[in-house]
Amino acid sequence: MKVARLTLSDRASSGAYEDLSGPEIERVFMACGFADVEWVRIVMPDERTRIEDILRRLCDEQACELILTTGGTGPAPRDVTPEATRAVLERELPGFGEIMRMQSFAKVPTAILSRSTAGTRGRALIVNLPGNPKAIGECLPLIVPAIREALRHLRGES
Ligand code: MTE
Repeated sequence: MKVARLTLSDRASSGAYEDLSGPEIERVFMACGFADVEWVRIVMPDERTRIEDILRRLCDEQACELILTTGGTGPAPRDVTPEATRAVLERELPGFGEIMRMQSFAKVPTAILSRSTAGTRGRALIVNLPGNPKAIGECLPLIVPAIREALRHLRGES
């Protein structure tokens, strides 16, 4: 399975700090029981047009089945990940963001600052995760059952 992980952060992409969230996506995803994953690894700044372009390319040309983004989901002026994601989605799946916010809120009151969303483009599933590396472990396992089922539907297996 070809999976892309995109870290969207001005500072991580400029080298101001190390990208910990991208590698954390891989670690948590593999710990959830996925095998034979071919990873596409990208770190890029919070530039909406560039994010849209890369998302389209990963779905339409590189045939990624799943694209997991991290970062840029908050309320800061440079946070544009949900807008870029919605611009390329054909169908939105708002439940992914809803459940991450709802479940995380019990532990982290600031979880509701994430505007993360998800949805499909062609046969690809795109999911936004918050940028904090700790948030990956708090959110990704919650949505793995729905990711598995969505991929089955997108492959036409269901
Ligand atoms: N969700 C979880 N589970 N854990 C967190 O630490 N951080 C919140 C929120 N969601 C957080 C979380 C905070 S402080 C912000 S600002 C938003 O995610 C958006 O983060 P982002 O812009 O890095 O995506």
